[in-house]
Amino acid sequence: MQRQLHLNLFFHSRGHHEASWRHPHSSPLPLTDIGYYQDLARKAEAAKFDSIFLADQLALGEDAAQAARTWLEPITVLAALAVSTSRIGLIATCSTTYTEPFNLARQFASIDHISNGRAGWNIVTSWLATAARNFGDTGQVSHEDRYARAEEFMTVVKGLWDSWSEDAVLDDRASGRYARPDRIRPINHRGQFYRVAGPLNMPRCPQGRPVLVQAGSSDTGRRFAARYAEAVFTAHMEKRTAQAFYADLKALARAEGRHPDQVLILPGLSPMIGSTEAEAKRMARELNEFADPEVGRKRLSGRFGGHDFSHLPLDRPLTPEDFPDPGSVQAARSRTEVIINIVRRDKPTLRQLLAYMAGARGHFTMAGTPEQIADLIEDWFTDGAADGFNVMPPLLPNMLEIFSAEVIPLLQRRGLFRTEYSGITLREHYGLDWPKTAFEPAAAAE
Ligand SMILES: Cc1cc2nc3c(=O)[nH]c(=O)nc-3n(C[C@H](O)[C@H](O)[C@H](O)COP(=O)(O)O)c2cc1C
Repeated sequence: MQRQLHLNLFFHSRGHHEASWRHPHSSPLPLTDIGYYQDLARKAEAAKFDSIFLADQLALGEDAAQAARTWLEPITVLAALAVSTSRIGLIATCSTTYTEPFNLARQFASIDHISNGRAGWNIVTSWLATAARNFGDTGQVSHEDRYARAEEFMTVVKGLWDSWSEDAVLDDRASGRYARPDRIRPINHRGQFYRVAGPLNMPRCPQGRPVLVQAGSSDTGRRFAARYAEAVFTAHMEKRTAQAFYADLKALARAEGRHPDQVLILPGLSPMIGSTEAEAKRMARELNEFADPEVGRKRLSGRFGGHDFSHLPLDRPLTPEDFPDPGSVQAARSRTEVIINIVRRDKPTLRQLLAYMAGARGHFTMAGTPEQIADLIEDWFTDGAADGFNVMPPLLPNMLEIFSAEVIPLLQRRGLFRTEYSGITLREHYGLDWPKTAFEPAAAAE
């Protein structure tokens, strides 16, 4: 069979454009209404998306007065979506810096049980400086320390998910034996950051482990992804950097002894779709007119760990010297590199840069016809830039509906995308192997 494209729908506010929440075509529902998320998930499932994804941050943004960025706690939302859908994969973000591994392992295993094998975890180390203030207020954990802690966190959660073998539960009423003790084992982890005895207090989950997703793109982030991630979200503003990222990450995965097909790379794509290119561009311009540059300025500051950009005039062309060195940034390091690359390449004014970032925060944005969007998807997919896309509609649900009705059928006609789900679990949709555990004879013999 022809290699198949993977599509994830990234939920965000009333759309990924910063001003989407004010637009007359975005959803009228409150962002705290679970019906809004259920409706999006059902629509994505009807369109045969592989999965949906919820991001998360552990602090209220400083722009809360002018930006609709409040959200429900993602794992709780996944539980509601699990019972209102039956096929689509369900991915949520959770932090390795501010969560205990036992809690996280248990929550995602529960979602995997509740959804019959559709859970995915987006592993983040939480770059937002203000999050630290909500968790002990001992200052932001450095980039290096966050990833060091994340490494140990992975050892613990994988150990916990593997602490029950698949055949541990007997549930035999006649003999009175519920489980086989020899098929459940503690993990007795004692490391630098965590001490966890285990085992998990729940049977092995349907996928063995939830699908592991990751979205850090710094050098450390990439090496981490190469070791653990089964799907990688990434932000690129041009095909060239997406290709370089793709080649690099697949090579790193190979160097870790993994098959490169077992690490899917899904760059973000935020499509504004019109019946003509001119119409799509007009819609994008109209949406941009709702954006407030001062909101953008605050967000830019957050990306650079709170750096003060208030003195920069809006209408002078920027230079890389207007920004701190990305190597010194303890926040979202790879995204700061994306931003400085745009400044180097296009020399935008601050107003222009903020307008661009308002579209999808540094992900690829495009305004065009369904054919143009489908052509771009096919081109990146067949030319070593992507295994699929993290679809980030600028307006929700409006642009999701148009993408589903107009772009997906073109991809299906080209044989690139499924017309029906062939499996039930997210692992099946993504074409991922079943995780190997030490309960299996080969590993046990080591
Ligand atoms: C599509 C996408 C989604 C992300 N979602 C989150 C998120 O929900 N929460 C978060 O703290 N970081 C999120 N990130 C940020 C990354 O996980 C990572 O922390 C950031 O890129 C900085 O890490 P790095 O320096 O290794 O690149 C996301 C990144 C991408 C590309």
